[in-house]
Amino acid sequence: MKIVGISGSLTPRSKTFITVEKALNFAEKSEHNVETELINLRDYHLQFCDGRDPSTYEGDTKQLIDKIVEADALIVGSPIYRGSISGALKNVFDLIPNDSLRGKVIGFIATGGTYHHYLAIEHQLKPLAGYFKAHVIPGNVYAHNQHFENKQLVDKEIITRLKELGETVVTFHDRLNREAVGAHQPSIPRKSLLDS
Ligand SMILES: Cc1cc2nc3c(=O)[nH]c(=O)nc-3n(C[C@H](O)[C@H](O)[C@H](O)COP(=O)(O)O)c2cc1C
Repeated sequence: MKIVGISGSLTPRSKTFITVEKALNFAEKSEHNVETELINLRDYHLQFCDGRDPSTYEGDTKQLIDKIVEADALIVGSPIYRGSISGALKNVFDLIPNDSLRGKVIGFIATGGTYHHYLAIEHQLKPLAGYFKAHVIPGNVYAHNQHFENKQLVDKEIITRLKELGETVVTFHDRLNREAVGAHQPSIPRKSLLDS
């Protein structure tokens, strides 16, 4: 199985990147047939979603869409900005096709300055998974500034929870027959007035 991780931060040495990378490493170690790839949005020159058919984007934007469409499962991390997810990550959810996550397993991670916005995973990220008819594993992880020292994740409990998250994504995926359990996403036409 292929798990794609997405770090939704554009910051160098991002805390979100560190946590998603760790969860992916744990997932990879948990079973020999797990392949992972970490998408750092900082490395992609993405277009903003402009409502067109997702198959018509080119360059980095096309590459990113294709990687997500081809993933079996995902681990998605966002920094908390203004109590919500980053705009960069929201753009990714706007770019991808409606049915690209249907029936797939997703683990969510968020990092914030403090604990104030830990519920953002519940009310910002999980509804997106609901929209896409994806399966969110229990046990999302929220880390904040005090869990890091010298740009390293040092909090043992957070590391343990990232291990559980990575391993659970693998087991959930293994046990689900995605075609059988993923309800169809009604297609919402993307059409601009310019097309008519
Ligand atoms: C524009 C901006 C808005 C932020 N808003 C919040 C916020 O509402 N709540 C919070 O806990 N932290 C907030 N922070 C702090 C970041 O969420 C925190 O530093 C996070 O770990 C950054 O992740 P990164 O290192 O992966 O970029 C904000 C940071 C920035 C730059």
